[in-house]
Amino acid sequence: MTQALLPGHPHVLYRDDQLFVDQVPAAQLAEQFGTPLFVYSKAAMLDALAAYQRGFAGRRAQICYAMKANSSLAILQVFAQAGCGFDIVSAGELARVQAAGGDLSKVIFSGVGKTRAEMRQALQLGIGCFNVESESELEVLNEVALSLQVQAPVSIRVNPNVDPKTHPYISTGLKGNKFGVAHDRAVQTYQRAAGLPGLRVVGIDCHIGSQITQVDPYLDAMDRILDLVEAIEQAGVPIHHIDFGGGLGINYNGDTPPEADALWARLLAKLDARGFGQRQLMIEPGRSLVGNAGICLTEVLYLKPGEQKNFCIVDAAMNDLPRPAMYEAFHGIVPVQASRAQATLYDVVGPVCESGDWIGRERALAVQPGDQLAVLSAGAYCMSMSSNYNTRGRLAEVLVDEAGAHLIRRRETAQDTFALENLLPA
Ligand code: LLP
Repeated sequence: MTQALLPGHPHVLYRDDQLFVDQVPAAQLAEQFGTPLFVYSKAAMLDALAAYQRGFAGRRAQICYAMKANSSLAILQVFAQAGCGFDIVSAGELARVQAAGGDLSKVIFSGVGKTRAEMRQALQLGIGCFNVESESELEVLNEVALSLQVQAPVSIRVNPNVDPKTHPYISTGLKGNKFGVAHDRAVQTYQRAAGLPGLRVVGIDCHIGSQITQVDPYLDAMDRILDLVEAIEQAGVPIHHIDFGGGLGINYNGDTPPEADALWARLLAKLDARGFGQRQLMIEPGRSLVGNAGICLTEVLYLKPGEQKNFCIVDAAMNDLPRPAMYEAFHGIVPVQASRAQATLYDVVGPVCESGDWIGRERALAVQPGDQLAVLSAGAYCMSMSSNYNTRGRLAEVLVDEAGAHLIRRRETAQDTFALENLLPA
């Protein structure tokens, strides 16, 4: 038997000509659970987490999984059991942490538009920290906390104004972004926060973007944040923890991001050199923990040769895998059963009624209707961004662990998709 690993996906491999997720043949999963289907490897998630844990060995660091990347309960459960906290951005995500048995004291609440109701709920549940993104949010959080006779633990998200060198839709740390408090207003904002009786300043945070594949933007952001910590503390406001956000990229298409432990070796060296090595650290990784732990299995419905292009029409679509349509993102596409037949160039597209419904362009594939394909790097920002557009039920999800395959979410039926709707009175 020959074994071949797929780039970036240490737990997705070919044994002879058959695609496997860990020890389970992908074809068997497609048969048992139907397609399209998300399949995740628990071991791949824990391996990705282990790289961070190695990087932080001997340090005071809390990893808060940014669950927007994939918020399925069983996945949260895996990370909760591995000791992670969670970075959340809504009351809905908070409810998911509770449902998955996560530790609420390790929850940080990010986002530019928290409502009073969300603040109240999070305060009542005793979350670890609010990452506050504006001065007006500080005032509102103070009011809500006072009305509950508690103090809200706060960190202020500072916009370090560095270019993460990634897609403009997912870069967040530049001056023109809606995120965070401007670097040059940070000290003032901290002084204001320290004077509000409903708030307790605990930290500082930044998040410069997503799918970052270089170390330099992180080093630059760190320098700017540490400069601020010094200035804020000189102004009399102690900073307990420093949260460097998430953003580390994955290999989608030959991308070469640093490993998490290598990245943190560089960053910790800087922290040590500047005398901050013993501070409590936090990070909020999302994509790098789950992205390459997941694939989407899809069946070829039709081949449609054309004068300009050949189309390979599959049963997954932009509502299931929105990243190509939204960001022109690349996802690898490989056959579940490898073939030696002559390959043809296809645009791989879904059944949705939009030209934007494509999953991959100009892919060399040797396929026939009825064959199955795997869309790679589908663990992050796929299921969590999927929709019911065209009244397509959202996909089933399966998690593979050492005991086998577990259905962690059943496929939505048509009835599920309109279960919340009412007809008008007759
Ligand atoms: N922390 C904050 C405050 C964030 O806004 C994000 C992501 C993260 C952490 C996690 O970042 P990560 O480690 O996953 O890069 N839908 C886009 C990505 C949007 C990222 C939004 N914020 C995509 O599919 O590429």
